[in-house]
Amino acid sequence: MDIPQLEDLGDVSGKSVLVRSDLNVPLQYDDDLDASIIDPFRITSSLPTLDYLIKNGARVTVCSHLGRPKGVPDPRYLMAPVRNYLKAIYPEIEVMENVRFNKGEEANDPEFVQFLIAGQDLYVNDAFGVSHRSHASVVGPPKYLKSAAGRLLSKEVNVLSGLLEAPKGPFVAIIGGAKVSDKIALIRAIEPKVDKILIGGAMAFTFLAAMGHSVGDSLFEVDLVEECKALLAGSDTLVVPIDFLGLQSSIKFGRGESGADPVSLGEDVPSGFRGLDIGPKSIELFIAEINHAATILWNGPMGVFEDDRFSRGTLAIANAVAESGAFSVVGGGDSAAAIDAAGLAPRISHLSTGGGASLELLEKGDLPGLAALRHGLVL
Ligand code: 3PG
Ligand code: MG
Repeated sequence: MDIPQLEDLGDVSGKSVLVRSDLNVPLQYDDDLDASIIDPFRITSSLPTLDYLIKNGARVTVCSHLGRPKGVPDPRYLMAPVRNYLKAIYPEIEVMENVRFNKGEEANDPEFVQFLIAGQDLYVNDAFGVSHRSHASVVGPPKYLKSAAGRLLSKEVNVLSGLLEAPKGPFVAIIGGAKVSDKIALIRAIEPKVDKILIGGAMAFTFLAAMGHSVGDSLFEVDLVEECKALLAGSDTLVVPIDFLGLQSSIKFGRGESGADPVSLGEDVPSGFRGLDIGPKSIELFIAEINHAATILWNGPMGVFEDDRFSRGTLAIANAVAESGAFSVVGGGDSAAAIDAAGLAPRISHLSTGGGASLELLEKGDLPGLAALRHGLVL
């Protein structure tokens, strides 16, 4: 992709460089609201760019969002834990306060852009996870400063765009998650380029409804049944689950719930029940496809995996992907978290730091943050 790289900035020694990273890591809080980092993956993925700049003598200021504080300071989303983490590695680095404490960030306010770039000579966008958002810190600075993509942004873009350009077949995509409305554009975009699309998560029920199956009280999107029907009719690419684990509709589910044992359900879910994970026969069916794939793209969990009773499908797929020997790309917060929790990250070829950003790049082939770098000051 034709975007300027760190080397294109020339000699950065003595220069002040503003780096936009995505340091939006999951946090947990103690009773005093002190936050600690649950998983530093996004921070560690951002280090190569900082390393390059610091080793080459730049004065580095990093900015990022953390959570969704809605344009006002919020004690839950202070940058302190992230700043401490980075300063322990690079004491000389400056870490600005959460850019989303200012309404100008999401509004892409030119005044906020001026505030961000004050005193800076150069700008680096390394925030892949937020490059689908036209926010001030993502799209603003390249209009005023000589700019480049950081190492993480470049790697994400190369891997994800390369995936659809010349994938080695068989190419199997695994798409899950709750809502088919979030993934339908992705399915449409990749359908002509992949051999199989394995559909998991609650979004499978909209496809099952389109095939005439009963879905009981399972989550499904009635508005999208016709669209799913059209997708199914035109292709032999889509593979939907043939069984599920679920619960009676009156029983609670979710993180920490464990009130009742899961029941086995077939591809027709009776009324009074809902499906919450793919079942053993579906796991077997999916693994058979995964095992002969040369390229795998995975986005979205197979069930309500944060409830231990319904994590089996997602974990089985995570293991199969890791063991497959295929070139594997995993994107999306939940599937990446499942891979990470299972300790499988080192066996995935590319674990993306972006959720929405990876979906949008695969769907559209471009992102506002990339366009800004391309159209900014000509180097
Ligand atoms: C993410 O968590 O997906 C990225 O950091 C982007 O965050 P956002 O969805 O709040 O814009
Ligand atoms: Mg998100």
